[in-house]
Amino acid sequence: MSTPAFTHLAEVGSTNDWLLARAETLPDGHWVIADRQTAGRGRRGRAWSDGTGNFMGSVLVKAAGPVQQLSFVAALALHGALAGLSGQPARFALKWPNDLLLDGIKCAGILLERQGSAVGDALVIGIGVNLAHHPDGTERPATSLAAAGLPVPPPVGLLDKLAPAFAHWCAMWARDGFAPIREAWLERSTGLGTRIVARLGAESPEGLFEGLAEDGALLMRLDDGTMRAIHAGEVFAV
Ligand code: BTN
Repeated sequence: MSTPAFTHLAEVGSTNDWLLARAETLPDGHWVIADRQTAGRGRRGRAWSDGTGNFMGSVLVKAAGPVQQLSFVAALALHGALAGLSGQPARFALKWPNDLLLDGIKCAGILLERQGSAVGDALVIGIGVNLAHHPDGTERPATSLAAAGLPVPPPVGLLDKLAPAFAHWCAMWARDGFAPIREAWLERSTGLGTRIVARLGAESPEGLFEGLAEDGALLMRLDDGTMRAIHAGEVFAV
């Protein structure tokens, strides 16, 4: 499969914003990548550091249904692309909800965003990958392919693998639903069956990481035996 139509920008505020602003006119599956982002953002209102040589890209998806599941679709595509390019799949793992770890340290993140009803079912999935650089001094440690001693593809080289992989997993999701996505995601995830803590702001429940619910929530078995679904937040090994 070849890379579908994409736009390559030298500089932009945020590739997510660029695509959201054009969601009505661009087709489903259109990608945009940028060499620089001046206002890149991550989850939970964090800034996403600009790093020339890193991958900063977004894809437009026009789909109906439980589209929040598409972050797992994107994670599978990203895992497959990086595992294939590096030849070292065992060093990459997926972490709930939207992170990709390299040797147990975050090297990529995914941000799903959509606008109001004006753009119908349009959704933008933004992906940032630390290929050549990673930020220092972040709240949680970060790494890059370069820091881990792996070959560093150019961003467009990653897109060449990522875009067809995303199309593949997205077609499976549209055809077969979330079940095969959930199973594939869990196979590549870190910490299944181990003790974790969820940081939810006001509370920090602890328990065993038991799997994913139908809506993508993390399932935690609490010490009293009950199951709790975590819909948003961050989880860490205890
Ligand atoms: C995270 O917090 O882990 C998600 C990071 C997502 C960053 C990417 S870079 C391309 C796209 N444009 C943005 O402004 N953010 C996403």
